[in-house]
Amino acid sequence: MKLLFAAPLFLASASASNYRSVSQHDRDLQGGGGGQGGGGGGAGGGGGGGGGGDGPAGGGGQGVTCSTTENLSTSVTGPAAAPLRGSVGCVDQEAYGLRDTTAIPITQGQDAFNIYGPMEAGFTSTNPGMSCLGDTTVSGGLDTLLAEHIVKNFCSDDTISVLDACGGHAVPYHYHERMSCLYESDSNTGHSTRVGTAADGNGIYGMYIDGGVLPTDLDVCGGRSGVTPDSNGETVYYYPIKAYAPFTLGCYGPVSSVDECRSLYGCNSQEIETITTEFGSGQYTLDCPCFDENRSNVVDQGYPGYLDPSLKPTETNSPSGSPPTTTDSSASKNKSLMGMAILSIVYIVM
Ligand SMILES: *[C@@H]1O[C@H](CO)[C@@H](O)[C@H](O)[C@H]1NC(C)=O
Ligand SMILES: *[C@@H]1O[C@H](CO)[C@@H](O)[C@H](O)[C@H]1NC(C)=O
Ligand SMILES: *[C@@H]1O[C@H](CO)[C@@H](O)[C@H](O)[C@H]1NC(C)=O
Repeated sequence: MKLLFAAPLFLASASASNYRSVSQHDRDLQGGGGGQGGGGGGAGGGGGGGGGGDGPAGGGGQGVTCSTTENLSTSVTGPAAAPLRGSVGCVDQEAYGLRDTTAIPITQGQDAFNIYGPMEAGFTSTNPGMSCLGDTTVSGGLDTLLAEHIVKNFCSDDTISVLDACGGHAVPYHYHERMSCLYESDSNTGHSTRVGTAADGNGIYGMYIDGGVLPTDLDVCGGRSGVTPDSNGETVYYYPIKAYAPFTLGCYGPVSSVDECRSLYGCNSQEIETITTEFGSGQYTLDCPCFDENRSNVVDQGYPGYLDPSLKPTETNSPSGSPPTTTDSSASKNKSLMGMAILSIVYIVM
């Protein structure tokens, strides 16, 4: 088994126009076109726990800088674009205490407070474990889950993973997905506990809402209004983590439509690329974190062919997928056990 803790490309010094040249319009990655690497890659890069970005952010710059001793305090008012490849929020002190670094070690002993937006700056064969990409570049502006499936498919290797078991990676270390090591289930409500604070001051929570179920009322930013375990009975706007992009938040909400989100990022003028994964092909708008009820960021596409058809939202539970049949507490316990199992395999092999 091979599990990669791949670092994204660091293109921090590249201009936005340079970055744009990395991807070709409608290039089919499966066809292997496009040899422009967009600069050096690899696991290296600056140290420190700052809120650096995975290259130029598609919206809102590099984002916030996380403290290792304090929760983030409010700096932005939504609706607003959030950094797509920079820090959109920070892990709260209390949640950080849940992270078991024995089970899930942190890359090079770094701080692990940065919560990034959904997108990556791209992958090339110079990323650790991705020599199988050859001359092919995985474009910047794709979300991490999709980028991972593209590489898996291109390399015919289902074991490739771009994130660790908690959903983070790289130097400086940051989370994109899951954050399963940072929350548990509230014993009274089954609601997931708070993971961190977004730059708009709203909370980021684990996947489940009251009753230990997945929410079905998320807006296009990925947020909802409801009571949380620490809101003192008040209804607040917050971001539950999702198993699909934008994972945490696509924009600082609330927004009332896909179009409102798209206008924050200028999605209508972004490049559209044809994407192929093991599931099939479809179109994706680069650097557009505005997904409709069919989880597509291309208008009127329907459910994209590159996504797992078994995760397609149904009419009754759109847009969040099937609610779990069990409570959060057993589900998250099993999830973390699974994470440990994956990691132990990695350490045996590596
Ligand atoms: C940080 O957030 C936690 C909740 O996650 C809260 O209990 C704690 O009081 C907060 N600390 C500060 C310094 O705001
Ligand atoms: C989602 O897909 C369904 C079925 O293909 C379609 O009827 C519906 O119009 C789509 N919604 C959007 C917003 O594209
Ligand atoms: C968790 O694991 C236990 C025992 O391994 C099993 O009985 C239970 O159904 C699992 N729950 C979930 C949500 O997978």
